[in-house]
Amino acid sequence: MSYKDKVYIEDLAKYAGQEVELNGWVYTKRGKGKLQFVILRDGTGICQCVVFKANVSEEVFANTKSLTQESSIKVKGKVVANERAPGGFELDTSDLQIYQLSTDYPITPKEHGDDFLIRNRHLWLRSSRQHAIMRVRASVIKAVRDFFDNSGFKLQDSPMFTPNACEGTSTLFSTKYFDLGEAFLSQSGQLYAEATAMAMGRVYTFGPAFRAEKSKTRKHLTEFWMVEPEMAFFDLEDDMQLAEDLTVYIVQYVLENCRKELETLERDITKLEAIQGNFPRMSYTEAVGWMNANDIPLTKRVDGKDVEIRPFPWGEDFGTPQEEALMEQFSQPCFIYDYPTEIKAFYMKRNPDNPKVVKAMDMLGPEKAGELVGGSQREDNVELLEERIKAEDLDMTDFAWYVDLRKYGSVPHSGFGMGIERVIKWITGAKHIRETIPFPRMIHRIIP
Ligand code: 4AD
Ligand code: MG
Repeated sequence: MSYKDKVYIEDLAKYAGQEVELNGWVYTKRGKGKLQFVILRDGTGICQCVVFKANVSEEVFANTKSLTQESSIKVKGKVVANERAPGGFELDTSDLQIYQLSTDYPITPKEHGDDFLIRNRHLWLRSSRQHAIMRVRASVIKAVRDFFDNSGFKLQDSPMFTPNACEGTSTLFSTKYFDLGEAFLSQSGQLYAEATAMAMGRVYTFGPAFRAEKSKTRKHLTEFWMVEPEMAFFDLEDDMQLAEDLTVYIVQYVLENCRKELETLERDITKLEAIQGNFPRMSYTEAVGWMNANDIPLTKRVDGKDVEIRPFPWGEDFGTPQEEALMEQFSQPCFIYDYPTEIKAFYMKRNPDNPKVVKAMDMLGPEKAGELVGGSQREDNVELLEERIKAEDLDMTDFAWYVDLRKYGSVPHSGFGMGIERVIKWITGAKHIRETIPFPRMIHRIIP
């Protein structure tokens, strides 16, 4: 038998009335006397296998009764429609063989603490909620790739070992690099994407990003996945429109392809259906004005404590309280643009009409999702870029190649980065970002 003939639970409808063989793990088992019900999971779905004593050998029935949670088995039987069974079909079992009997599986149907579950992440992934989130994750990533691949973008991978910082020197992970000294794990593929964009026109890079974030929040990982498109001849307006179109595409794709998963997660689907485009946009200056005009918590984190500040001073970066208060009025994501130069990265283009701000944008999500996207138009003037590199105390020799992009056919260009786990957290309604990646990396956790 070819592997192509294997049958999976998600395809059972195609086999109604036929004999099939399924392989999987025992989710639960119940029954009394002559009738046993084995709930089997195979990664694609869940199927109830009905084992009636009269239909199987004595040995098979005894084996069935001995089954424990997460034992691995092979089951044969006829696919029968049953409205009340999960998935609408069940298996009228004729044979059941055990690969391995599992003993004392640690995650039982009772409630477990967060710490226990995350320590058992390698097993927790099998639980229905985690399984559903991981399936949504795969769909979000597919949606991102389809969106770019189908609209003229070329995937160009950026390196993970880098000689320099892209997003500030305070969150760099360093490692020894042979005789060349210190190298850093990439915080962002952007700088290299700018080079490939000048070769290819429109590119995207999609890979892990590393940040030695000291912040222990529900939204930060030290290793996360980021998709970063970069486009020659795009200004900030074009950049925001692209981020909006991508976001709408992802949400629609998940709504179309992950209904079952969203149901398992008890996600309020109407909130996702509201994501239709025409996202509100507001300049940073307007946002500060709004905050000062409205009675919202204006705090700033000083030495680990939230200190009240009022009025909110122009030039300060927004924290979670500001972002959440601002977003309460919107049911779609919102763009904030034209941020103060001081609080943004060196590569962002100065607004020629007002050099105190740069052509940067953040896309904040509704429902306390936080910052989903950060991007900008890039500084395309050699002198202004060199000035910013020097002002940030970055080593000019490391950036010579990057400055070259402004010497040989410099063009207006823009791009952004979208944090995939932040998007998955928002779409699935997961309570913590650690549930959105198979093996989360955080300050105090590297195992498993
Ligand atoms: O705003 P950031 O730092 O932007 C950049 O890295 C740019 N170089 C992107 C670009 O223009 N090509 O990060 C982009 C996004 C954030 O909006 C957020 O969604 C996510 O990456 N992100 C994180 N996600 C999880 N954990 C963290 N520690 C994150 N830091 C940023
Ligand atoms: Mg940002």
